[in-house]
Amino acid sequence: MRILLLTHSFNSLAQRLFAELRSRGHSVSVEFDISDAVTEEALALFKPNLILAPFLKRAIPESIWSRYTCLVVHPGVQGDRGPSALDWAIQNGNSNWGVTVLQAEAEMDAGPVWASETFDLRAAKKSSVYRNEVTEAAVRCGLAAVERLLAGNFTPQRVPGQAHGLMMQADRAIDWQREPTGSILAKLHAADGFPGVADTLFGEPCHLFDAWPEAALRGTPGEVLGRRETAVLRATVDGALWIGHVKRAGAFKLPATLAFPQADALPELLLEGWWKAPEPTWQDIAYTESDGVGTLDFAFYNGAMATGQCLRLRLAFAWAATRPTRVIVLRGGTDFWSNGIHLNVIEAASSPSDESWANINAMNDLAETVLRCDTHLTVAALQGGAGAGGCFLARAADQVWVRDGVMLNPHYKNMGNLYGSEFWTYLLPARVGAAGARAIMQSRLPMTAQESVRIGLYDACLPSAGFADGVVRRASDLVQAPDLTERLVAKRDKRRADEAAKPLDAYRTEELQEMQRNFYGFDASYHVARYHFVARSPHSWTPRHLAVHRDLDWKTSP
Ligand code: COA
Repeated sequence: MRILLLTHSFNSLAQRLFAELRSRGHSVSVEFDISDAVTEEALALFKPNLILAPFLKRAIPESIWSRYTCLVVHPGVQGDRGPSALDWAIQNGNSNWGVTVLQAEAEMDAGPVWASETFDLRAAKKSSVYRNEVTEAAVRCGLAAVERLLAGNFTPQRVPGQAHGLMMQADRAIDWQREPTGSILAKLHAADGFPGVADTLFGEPCHLFDAWPEAALRGTPGEVLGRRETAVLRATVDGALWIGHVKRAGAFKLPATLAFPQADALPELLLEGWWKAPEPTWQDIAYTESDGVGTLDFAFYNGAMATGQCLRLRLAFAWAATRPTRVIVLRGGTDFWSNGIHLNVIEAASSPSDESWANINAMNDLAETVLRCDTHLTVAALQGGAGAGGCFLARAADQVWVRDGVMLNPHYKNMGNLYGSEFWTYLLPARVGAAGARAIMQSRLPMTAQESVRIGLYDACLPSAGFADGVVRRASDLVQAPDLTERLVAKRDKRRADEAAKPLDAYRTEELQEMQRNFYGFDASYHVARYHFVARSPHSWTPRHLAVHRDLDWKTSP
């Protein structure tokens, strides 16, 4: 089939559908939903058999749905209608929710249903539910709908429905003097990613994101009690909550303590060491140990790793390497493993060039520490996605295990032609060959977990269910294996031989020469791209590598 993905942006769900449909032999192209005229142009060029809309912010016009089969992914159960489906379900504390693929018609979300699924709804951030449960269900529903369309013997049914309006800030408002912690947490979770909850901190208006429960600390309701690294703690009537990120009026999303320098005056509520705290609290790096395996979880918001986070993770890793264990697992966070340097923090810096430079050097220091670790076998276990430098930081480990369903973007060029570092010039060709590395870097396309293993970039794709525990079991098998010592010896020998052939320092210097041009040179593409990425500027065109129908030599089959 010729399938046009019509989407507001090429988000993780759109990426996943793109890759899954292509791997099933469909011809897939992408057009961003910019204007009706642009979509019409795409339709005239591509002549799709199907328009699939994974993520839209406005309705498809009648002029299009009346001529083409248009299937829309709605993040709600059958019969649910409206633009804030997931927000209402999370805020209302529903115990299950779902995804429906329906045909576009005049009334939004009211068309005949082609596929639908339900799932248990976790008490978690909306962005996390979207990237996990919603995406998994949407991919299965999207693929089922395509199969049904192809088979030609399926009649989609209409279901009676109920429309829920757009959730407004008035619906999200928090009363810190009265509301219990659970209700506030549900509101913050329901707004996470976008739009956040409009509130105030230090007497100034802002939107709150990235809430974490706190089990032990208490204070006067509404009062900001203290800070830990980049988060602030705020008391409720029956407990307290950490706020990790905020967006001040007219600004972009930042770690709370960076957005509000007033936080410097707060008491520091630091945790001792790296061990995972026994009770819920804000802890972005947490170490656990069992059966000779040390595991580092690092739940950095959105997978972005600022200079300070790289430094702290490096310290935590170096400490883990002093433990009487044999394997260290770098498990990242549940939604992302790493998306590379922290573009928002860089954008906020007085000199974005200098901060970019500091950040990439800190990333490289971390990658180098992992690469040079000769006391332990190391495993990067990706439960969430990775992008750009994050993909190569993972490859610095001896083994990389990826959860089935995770999307990877092992390339840099989408960020204003960034050259990239993190020793990718050492790590990538060694896995996929020089031509393979060039193709990955230039195609700038997302890759599924299965594909990454098929081409040899990563080592194993593990089932989604029970991934986090499965990783620790698999790592303890490595510890028990009779050849563990030989593996460690082989690892040291290989590092020594590679170092003799070309020192890590040489790779680093060469990559950083290119990065210096990106950061400080006359071509400002990286700075412009970063600005638009951070500002979430709307797209004004679809990149050519996605809109294949706009290639000059694109031909539809007769
Ligand atoms: N720095 C800061 N924020 C980042 C980030 C980074 N490196 N990577 C992702 N984010 C943020 C996004 O701004 C977005 O923020 P939101 O909370 O306002 O929604 C959130 O993470 C999710 O990103 P999104 O692009 O919506 O997720 P996705 O799953 O659709 O796409 C990527 C994932 C990796 C393809 C995409 O986020 C990306 O291209 N990131 C930049 C990678 C990069 O160039 N890093 C720098 C070079 S090392």
